[in-house]
Amino acid sequence: LILILDFGGQYNQLIARRVRECNVYCEVVSYKISIEEVKAKNPKGIIFTGGPASVYGEKSPKCDEGIFQLGIPILGICYGGQLMAEALGGKVNAAEKREYGKTALNLKGNSPLFRDIEQNSICWMSHTDFIERAPADFVITAFTEDCPVAAMENQEKKLYAVQFHPEVEHTEAGKEMINNFLYKACNCEGTWTTENYIEEEIQHIQDMVGDKKVLCALSGGVDSSVAAVLVHRAVGDNLTCVFVDHGLLRKDEGDKVEEIFKNKFKMNFIRVNAKDRFLGKLAGVQDPEKKRKIIGEEFIRLFEEEARKLGQIDYLVQGTLYPDIIESGTDTASVIKSHHNVGGLPEDMKFELIEPFKYLFKDEVREVGTQLGLPEEIVWRQPFPGPGLAVRVLGEITEEKLHIVREADAIVREEIKKAGLDRAIWQYFAVLPNIMSVGVMGDERTYAHTIGIRAITSSDAMTADWARIPYDVLEKISTRIVNEVKGANRIVYDITSKPPATVEWE
Ligand code: XMP
Repeated sequence: LILILDFGGQYNQLIARRVRECNVYCEVVSYKISIEEVKAKNPKGIIFTGGPASVYGEKSPKCDEGIFQLGIPILGICYGGQLMAEALGGKVNAAEKREYGKTALNLKGNSPLFRDIEQNSICWMSHTDFIERAPADFVITAFTEDCPVAAMENQEKKLYAVQFHPEVEHTEAGKEMINNFLYKACNCEGTWTTENYIEEEIQHIQDMVGDKKVLCALSGGVDSSVAAVLVHRAVGDNLTCVFVDHGLLRKDEGDKVEEIFKNKFKMNFIRVNAKDRFLGKLAGVQDPEKKRKIIGEEFIRLFEEEARKLGQIDYLVQGTLYPDIIESGTDTASVIKSHHNVGGLPEDMKFELIEPFKYLFKDEVREVGTQLGLPEEIVWRQPFPGPGLAVRVLGEITEEKLHIVREADAIVREEIKKAGLDRAIWQYFAVLPNIMSVGVMGDERTYAHTIGIRAITSSDAMTADWARIPYDVLEKISTRIVNEVKGANRIVYDITSKPPATVEWE
C-alpha cells in the first residue's frame, strides 16, 4: 500500500492513477491523518500531493511532522515537497518568476528516483512558491533555469521531493520517476493487477454474503453492469438484477441489456417494462425539473415494488467508484456521502451495501469488465443520464417525439463510431429541441422537427468543450437523419461549451 496524503492539489487523483498503473495499490487520504492511523495502515511509502496554499501561510494545511520520523519513504510533490523542505529546516519563498507549463529539467547526482532517466528532459511545472534552500542534510538532485531546487533528497532518511509534477503526462519521464519511487525507494512488489483484484473481491463478497440474497438495480451503465457480473460470479443465483425499462432508453438498448444479462450471463434478471406508466405520469409535463423528479420517484417506487415481491433481501449492489468517496484534503466539511440507504427508498427497506468498486477508478472498472467478458458496447458505453431521452426531448414528451430523437440518435452514434471517433468524444447524441421549421423535400413543402446534435470532449463532464467533428462526418449524419427519419427536416450542431451551457439540453 502507498498512502497519498491529499493537500488539495488538482492532480491528486492522477497521482493515484499513476501509482495503480505501476501495479501498486494506493489510497488517497486527508493530510490530517494521524500518525497512529498511518502506522496502522503500514504503507510501504507515502506521497504528498501538491496544493494551492503557501507553506508559510497562516492557515496552510500541514500534516503531523512525526511522519518524517517513521522511516517510511516519502515523496513530496510541489506543495508536498515544499512542506517537507520547510518542516526539516529548509526555506520556502515566493518565486520571482513563477514557473508554469513545460520546463527544461536537468538532473544531477545519482538519485534512485531518477535511475535510468536522461539527464535532460521536459517536466511540467505549476508553482508560485519555490524551495529557496534545501534542508542541510539534503542534496539537490535536479534544477531548472528558474528553480535551483527542482528536486532534493535525503537517501538515508528515504525522503524525496520534487517541485515539478511527475504525474502529469507532459513530464516526459514522469511515469519512470513514479515507478522508481515505488520500486527503488519503497521496494513495492507490484501485485495490484486486475486478475488479483477480481479473485480477492469475489472471495471477499462470498465471505460477506454467505447464502443470503442480493439485489442489483441494473441500468446498463458501465459501473452497475460490471458490478452485477462480478457479484454474480461470487454468489450466483443468490443475486437478482432488476432492470427498470422506463421507455426512455436509446434504440434497442433494453433488448440488448436483456440479451447480455439474461441470455449470455444467465442471471436472475427481471425486466420491468414500465413505458406506459412513465409516459402516463409525464403526459403534459413541460418543466425539466418536474420531468426529472417524476422519473426519479417513479423509478424508486417501481424498484421498491419489485424488491418487495422478492421477499427478504439482505444486500444491495452499488457501482460506487473511488472518486465518489475520496475526501479532498482541503475540505474541512468532510462531505462523504452517507450510504446507509439508497436515496428515496423507504426507511423500512434496509440493506447492507456491496460496493465492489469503491476503491477503483473508472478505467480500472472497465478493465475488470473486459476481463469478466462483458462486451465492448457496455464496457465503453458513453454516459447516459438516468432520465434518459426525457431530457433530450425538450418540453412535453410524446411517443412520436421520442421515436424521432431515438432514430436520429442511433444514426449519430453509428456514424461517430464508423468514423472511429467514439472513444475520443466523451459523449455524443441527438436532441429534439421542439422546434418545427419549413423545408422542401422532392417538390413538397415539409414542416417538421429540428434535430440538434450534441458532442463534447471532457474528462469528467464537469466542464466540457464541443467536439470538432469533421465536416464530412457531420454531413453524413445530417443527410442520413433527414433521409431516414420521418418527421425531421433540419439538423443543427451545438457549438457551446460547458460552462456556459450544460451537456444535456434540459
Ligand atoms: P450536464 O447536463 O449536467 O451533464 O452538464 C453532465 C453529465 O451528467 C449526465 N447527466 C446525468 N446523469 N442522471 C445521470 O445519471 C441525470 O439526471 C443526469 N443529468 C445529466 C450527462 O449526460 C453528462 O454526462
